[in-house]
Amino acid sequence: MKKKITVPDLRQKKENHERIVMLTAYDTPSARLVDEAGVDVVLVGDSLGDNVLGYENTIPVTMEEMIHHTRAVKRGLRRALLVADMPFMSFQCSWEEAVRNAGRLIKDAGAEAVKIEGGAAIAETVHRMTGFGIPVMGHLGLTPQSVNAFGGYRVQGKDAYSAERIMQDAALLQEAGAFAVVLELVPAELAGKISKSLSIPTIGIGSGPLCDGQVLVYHDMLGINPDRSYRHVKRYAELGVEIRQATERYASEVREGKFPTEENGF
Ligand code: KIV
Repeated sequence: MKKKITVPDLRQKKENHERIVMLTAYDTPSARLVDEAGVDVVLVGDSLGDNVLGYENTIPVTMEEMIHHTRAVKRGLRRALLVADMPFMSFQCSWEEAVRNAGRLIKDAGAEAVKIEGGAAIAETVHRMTGFGIPVMGHLGLTPQSVNAFGGYRVQGKDAYSAERIMQDAALLQEAGAFAVVLELVPAELAGKISKSLSIPTIGIGSGPLCDGQVLVYHDMLGINPDRSYRHVKRYAELGVEIRQATERYASEVREGKFPTEENGF
């Protein structure tokens, strides 16, 4: 087996100009498959909400749901670093509550790091967490938990003022001890500038080719929800279509008496 990936390995990868591969997973079989495929970082994203649990967005996701799915993913991993998202309202009210909840994801669920959305407003919280030995990945740009404030899923940092704010937030997160930062839906040039200015790695999603790594949502990358398509996603399979067609074949074979046959009995 290849060497287990740790938090310091990610910075080393940046220094070596090796790109970091990150993908989400939400259960044991998918975690096992992506781990065997050599993904470096597996994120139990709160995208769990709209990809697996049937919620409209990530806002309703609870700590209990994140712990349940992080435990399941943990059981499928051998090599990849396991990062769990801090869901909406698990970290905003006080740094004490944030540390307690991050601790649950590490201690009760087996995550090796947590990811948290936001910039200046959570810098103190990130500082406290990292001070207590909890590795933190930041998340800037389009932060989906703020979808109501943004009024939709839009590219962030298009004007000089908001670009500067994202640059400053990235520097603050690094200063607070974050070991990496996700840049979601920010213009490629800005993502490149931030990546150059930081010593910690940036992980892009919809942020162009100049980040130090890339993350996608498992279901998007594999086309599991065939009706959803996004410009920032490349689909490497059409599993949704395959699953539907396979299920149709199964249903018609059962109805026509073609399955099961004697071969499938005892
Ligand atoms: O929840 C999630 O899956 C994420 C990634 C898309 C970065 O935050």
